[in-house]
Amino acid sequence: MTGMLETVDPQERFLEFFKIEKYRQRISQMAISGRESIMADFEELLAFDQKLTEKLLEKPDEYLKHANNAAYAQLQIEDPEYAEKIETVTVRIVQLLETAQLRKLGSNNIGRLVMVEAIVVRSTPVRPMVMQASFKCKRCGTITRIDQTGQFLRAPFECSDPSCRAKGPFEFVQEESAFIDSQDLRLQERPEDLPPGQLPRTLNVKLVGSEIVDVARPGDHVSIVGIVRAFAPSRPGVGKLRTFILYVDANSIEVLGKEPEATLPSPEEEEKILELAKDPWVHRKIISSIAPSIYGYEHVKEAIMYLLFGGVPKTLPDITVRGELNALLIGDPGTAKSQLLQYVARIAPRGLYTSGRGTTAAGLTAAVIREKGGGMNLEAGALVLADKGVACIDEMDKMRPEDRVAIHEAMEQHTVSVAKGGIVATLNARTAILAAANPALGRYEPHRTVAENISLPVTILSRFDLIFVLRDVPNKEADEKMSEHILEIHRKGLSPAEPPMQSELMRKYVSYAKGIRPVLTNEALKRLGDFYLAMRSASEAEGSPVAITARQLESLVRIAEARARAALRKEVLAEDAEAAVSIMKRSLEEVGIDVTSYKMDIDLIMTGKPKSVRDRLQIILSTLIEMEKETGIVEKVALLSELESKYKVSRGESERLIAQLLREGTIYEPRQGCLKKT
Ligand SMILES: Nc1ncnc2c1ncn2[C@@H]1O[C@H](COP(=O)(O)OP(=O)(O)O)[C@@H](O)[C@H]1O
Ligand SMILES: [Mg+2]
Ligand SMILES: [Zn+2]
Repeated sequence: MTGMLETVDPQERFLEFFKIEKYRQRISQMAISGRESIMADFEELLAFDQKLTEKLLEKPDEYLKHANNAAYAQLQIEDPEYAEKIETVTVRIVQLLETAQLRKLGSNNIGRLVMVEAIVVRSTPVRPMVMQASFKCKRCGTITRIDQTGQFLRAPFECSDPSCRAKGPFEFVQEESAFIDSQDLRLQERPEDLPPGQLPRTLNVKLVGSEIVDVARPGDHVSIVGIVRAFAPSRPGVGKLRTFILYVDANSIEVLGKEPEATLPSPEEEEKILELAKDPWVHRKIISSIAPSIYGYEHVKEAIMYLLFGGVPKTLPDITVRGELNALLIGDPGTAKSQLLQYVARIAPRGLYTSGRGTTAAGLTAAVIREKGGGMNLEAGALVLADKGVACIDEMDKMRPEDRVAIHEAMEQHTVSVAKGGIVATLNARTAILAAANPALGRYEPHRTVAENISLPVTILSRFDLIFVLRDVPNKEADEKMSEHILEIHRKGLSPAEPPMQSELMRKYVSYAKGIRPVLTNEALKRLGDFYLAMRSASEAEGSPVAITARQLESLVRIAEARARAALRKEVLAEDAEAAVSIMKRSLEEVGIDVTSYKMDIDLIMTGKPKSVRDRLQIILSTLIEMEKETGIVEKVALLSELESKYKVSRGESERLIAQLLREGTIYEPRQGCLKKT
């Protein structure tokens, strides 16, 4: 019986498969949609004929050909006219039972059909590829056609005219050649598939055919079924290398949903989660479960909690408002910033840790990269790869100049646009950002403004919902507690305090909570509104600093929503609004704003200068301009005495402000001791 089955012609078996009603329908509808391929479900094929399916996995080149021929034969029955027109049908297999792990692909997979799920990091534009090339003999003018398969364009061995048989020269005739659309992608392991502490691996994929090119963009998560192949890169003048490089010839591609894979909690875990959420101290418990080995920083951990859960994005017909929170930690070296970031990247669903420079050529946003052959590639950077997740950016102050420009759009609109080298694209970057930056002067100087302390433009600073300063100041009592804590960790090799929630459960808790979209209650709305209006009215008097802007109001809403989510509540209560106001106040205080008097000066963040300083800078500038009109070049000493006598600005203060203007590039020193406005 089994012997008989094996002798059945595989093409016949495929033909029987395509006679199943569902596939007959698909085939008969090909003409309507103008398709030249049909999808075949792996599982259905398996249920139909297990042997055939095994062969398909083992020898896909041969068996896909049988499948294609069978589908074409069925098309000749269903729609002979269309069959006449398209000449071939491609069968595309989707959803194999198993996903091959990208990092485990190796020589034993070569020639086999596999499915990989990964993230697209790089793509070329769609390019025509020659399938059949026509060459004209320069002696007699005869055209010789050569089917193309390899990597390089192959010319005829000799002229096909029997009376000529010249071995060249030949001329490639584009109009008489047959082309097909092709595209190369580079896949990378998804952050969630990555073993902790490992760098992601990549794999190149070749797409051929108008129905599978241009389906996925960098940043998309895809499932690709294809044949594993290897090619030997050649070195000019040396020949082919013995070590081959793996790539995949795609048979089908599907773009997967963008939500991070929710690792569903088991029934027991779900019970634990619901139990925790009912606890009136749930927020405290979450906070003390965040990086338990790191001592103190309760407020920073509270901010991290809000960032993990996030607010609710709003999509209105005309605008969208992000739900994700951005937080920045500025701090002295050795204040556990990197440790906190790495911890968050580990527990956040689709968390990603990167340095400001990024780990790839694409940096934080995206880049168009010229490949060796001269073609252009679009490559996704960290924020695009962490789409719908949390990007932890260490040493953000050291980001590439290109990213400084592009990151504004990424942080507010949550997209990254690229237009360069013929590539125009907008990629999604719906990412919560937890960033760290080191003070520009080595240590944080509290008497200077935030903008003066770090080398990030204020336009970027103002896009952070919360900013905290971590300072390393000696304090006997705190130092004792901290050293005790750290030494305890080193003695026991574990955290001194057992966290209420282990990180595995925490990740599931966060995923679970993300499904809730809390709505603001009237009481919560009132608390937020009152705070905002109080701040605004404090600055109504003419000339007084602007306390707070609409940006902060949106931040408050996000924080309050995140807090409700953390308790798995569908409603944002007054207590959430109050907590949001209090952490916002704390953040504003940390950046040097006096909250108690209600005289907050958001200009400090927006322009990097408190109003009083701005006024004085203005005086210095206008005095300089006045004096320039008289003398052309202004001696610094002359300016200093003018400022002292006329405006009562002390020499020390003037010196400091002049140095600041020089740093900013508002003025410059044409020669030693002289000043001029730029
Ligand atoms: N509050 C703290 N609790 C526990 N360990 C700390 C604390 N502050 C600093 N450390 C330790 O000091 C070291 C330096 O931390 P790191 O994250 O590299 O600092 P940063 O990135 O701020 O320069 C780490 O080993 C960290 O665990
Ligand atoms: Mg660090
Ligand atoms: Zn010829």
